[in-house]
Amino acid sequence: MRFTRRGFMAAAGLTIGAGATTIAATRESGPDTRDPPPKAEAPPATEPSPDFTRFASGDEWDNVRRQFTFSPDMVHLSALLLAAHPEPVRQAIEAYRRALDTDPTQYVHENNDRLRDASMSAAARYLGVETKQVALTESTTMGLALVYHGLKLKPGQEILVSEQDYYVTHEATRLAARRTGALIRRLSLFPDIGEVTADAMVGRIVENINDKTRAVALTYVHSSTGLKMPVRQIADRIVEINKKRDEADHVLLSVDGVHGFANQDITMESLGCDFFVAGCHKWLFGPRGTGIVVAGKRGFKDVLPTIPSFTDGASWAAWQKGRDAPDTIQTGWGLMPGGFKAFEHQWALAEAFKFHETIGKQKVAARTAELATRLKEGMGAIEKLRLITPNPPELSAGIVSFDIEDMSPNAVVRKLRERRIIASVAPYARPHVRLTPAITNTPAEIDYALEELGKIKADPPKSVSKRS
Ligand SMILES: Cc1ncc(COP(=O)(O)O)c(C=O)c1O
Repeated sequence: MRFTRRGFMAAAGLTIGAGATTIAATRESGPDTRDPPPKAEAPPATEPSPDFTRFASGDEWDNVRRQFTFSPDMVHLSALLLAAHPEPVRQAIEAYRRALDTDPTQYVHENNDRLRDASMSAAARYLGVETKQVALTESTTMGLALVYHGLKLKPGQEILVSEQDYYVTHEATRLAARRTGALIRRLSLFPDIGEVTADAMVGRIVENINDKTRAVALTYVHSSTGLKMPVRQIADRIVEINKKRDEADHVLLSVDGVHGFANQDITMESLGCDFFVAGCHKWLFGPRGTGIVVAGKRGFKDVLPTIPSFTDGASWAAWQKGRDAPDTIQTGWGLMPGGFKAFEHQWALAEAFKFHETIGKQKVAARTAELATRLKEGMGAIEKLRLITPNPPELSAGIVSFDIEDMSPNAVVRKLRERRIIASVAPYARPHVRLTPAITNTPAEIDYALEELGKIKADPPKSVSKRS
């Protein structure tokens, strides 16, 4: 795991004379900004800032960690929210930005193909598919909206979703149904997460698929509970169901994969779904404002574009000849939203994939599991803490969710921040606290978090002064 700026720059083919400008450290801004907890008190000014570099791993993982500019006085355990950029990504963005600022017209003209030749092909390599199976987006949200709004749905057909999915899947499918006359069927995956099993969830899903079901919309790793879905088992059952259906009515499996992407050792083949959608600005530590939609073996024939593509030659050619573009999208180019972009971010995405591949997908997954398991095991000894995330690795990934008796999740996040630990809460109806170990963390940080978690207590109730 050796990262040198030169090696990465050369691999990226960056020939412009960009200096090694260091961008100021991006400080994790805390929990989901759509539901921010009250601001924490700053730790007392009299105390010197601690330097958590003492929590180094003492092994090759320290080299990975050195690629980031996280503030050293905090333990960053919310990498799932919004990525910090590692050195190679930072350098590539900076180099492209400088070049674009010099002559945007010429530089875009000469480099536009990097979207396909660098970024899409890197995503394709990473997930074991062909480049044409990938579309670049700007977020998971945009990708899911493109898939569900674009789905060729007939009135009366159904999209099956689960109660436990995230806001974006619920909203994108709801809006798509409203426009097309399709229906949404919602099921609960389990009555009690403490007793959840893969077989029971697969059974629930399969028994809710009927003749009208056109798509099953699921989330790979749930951002509320950290539950990992048995996507492959579900896909296998859907293959069986589809054997008895007309090709045009096949049930499609679409997955919001963002919280299993770049922390699980997966390919499209291993997942078996028809659409895998993820943001690249979370666990991949890719440029902020990047994401992907990846199609399985069926390709993109079941969706129509929602936003005019700038990169699909067939659409341009049809328009120039005064004709309609073909109804079937042949490649990811067709689904990919057009418009000029933050090209420095879209192009630098290739560096994020290389960064992970240099470490090794399998190693990243094993490290994430090692740290998450250490955290979950340690939590078992903390009184008043109720672990929400299932223990078995086949039902969990890097998100560790929990509650603390008598404290709201936001109060726990605030208390942890006072102790210099960055946790988060997602804006679900039933929120939980999340700590999310990633490849940027160390076992010593997990132990520190556990020690501090054991100390936090609810504030005593405020005394109400009685008027005499
Ligand atoms: C499950 C899930 N999907 C999608 C998103 C949104 O991701 P993005 O910011 O890439 O749209 C989040 C969280 O922000 C999430 O938890």
